Amino acid sequence: MAGIRLPPEDNDASQARATAAADLISDDDRSVAADSWSIKSDYGSTLDDDQRHADASDALAAVPYRAASDYSSDKEEPDAEPVTSMLGFQSYWDTAYADELVNFREHGHAGEVWFGADVMEMVASWTKRLCIDISRGQLQNHLDDTISQPVVQGEEDLSSWSVLDVGTGNGLLLQELSKKGFSDLTGTDYSEGAIDLARSIADRDGFTNIKFLVDDALETKLDKKFKLVMDKGTLDAIGLHPDGPIKRIMYWDSISRLVSPKGLLVITSCNSTKDELVQEVDNFNQRRVGASQVNETCGGQEASKDPPPFRYLDHIRSYPTFMFGGTVGSRVATVAFLRN
Ligand SMILES: C[S@@+](CC[C@H](N)C(=O)[O-])C[C@H]1O[C@@H](n2cnc3c(N)ncnc32)[C@H](O)[C@@H]1O
Repeated sequence: MAGIRLPPEDNDASQARATAAADLISDDDRSVAADSWSIKSDYGSTLDDDQRHADASDALAAVPYRAASDYSSDKEEPDAEPVTSMLGFQSYWDTAYADELVNFREHGHAGEVWFGADVMEMVASWTKRLCIDISRGQLQNHLDDTISQPVVQGEEDLSSWSVLDVGTGNGLLLQELSKKGFSDLTGTDYSEGAIDLARSIADRDGFTNIKFLVDDALETKLDKKFKLVMDKGTLDAIGLHPDGPIKRIMYWDSISRLVSPKGLLVITSCNSTKDELVQEVDNFNQRRVGASQVNETCGGQEASKDPPPFRYLDHIRSYPTFMFGGTVGSRVATVAFLRN
């Protein structure tokens, strides 16, 4: 469920940044994104960190998200336009991280903690427990049925979990996961500035083991698979591009290649509810299974018995909730999917 939108405040510095970002994009992009100026114009300003976090989270959450299922053939509003924002453009992030880098070098500030430090801590702790349960073969805590996994002993086994954080931004989630005991950690982002920033902060804070690479999650050049893939706010940002619905389809194709069999994908979003994310995964599964059946039928073989790529495993239930219009929701959803 999208969060509650606060009115943006006037701020000269951030307006200047908005103008700079606008200079980097085409006229077409500019017109598509024009409506979102008020949403993004406070991001990355000289406001204090808490205010900046609130503004930036509001910017993401304020844009009403339409689940990918809305774009399937049975959608009821064929002419409805997807909502877009500057946060869907790489030029926006490049400008934002150039500023963040200056801010880090001059003042030592690490920059935005998307959705707040509490959510980041909760995501890291919850993910750690999930991984330990899986390593111990205790998936029944999360599923009706179990998968065969070697039973291993303790938290030290987190070292066997290779972790990828897509759209890592300043890389702070990886630092948090490192504190929890994960040690094989990689962060990627399509913005070079984000990777420079993440690396600089990790070096300063003594997390020199974390690897950072420039990579586009939609056209990944990584040929490795990871046991745990994290996404905090990246699918949200991707969905805000004018071609968001198509890019979300590309996202699932690409991300499914990055998660190893029996591996986990943990998505944290403020634009999609848990149910919307599960629905989006169901749609992806159906596309995949349908495509493989067509391929096999064309080849004159029996229908495919390949399982769908992902299945819902669990979600964080302890986020604070609020009631709106008779519906209970929370500002943020974190959902884990298991790769078959
Ligand atoms: C809302 S921010 C979240 C940053 C970070 N995950 C966090 O929680 O602090 C979204 C991030 O996704 C990155 N991003 C957006 N689209 C991407 C893509 N196609 N490939 C890689 N990174 C992307 C942006 O550069 C930005 O760092």
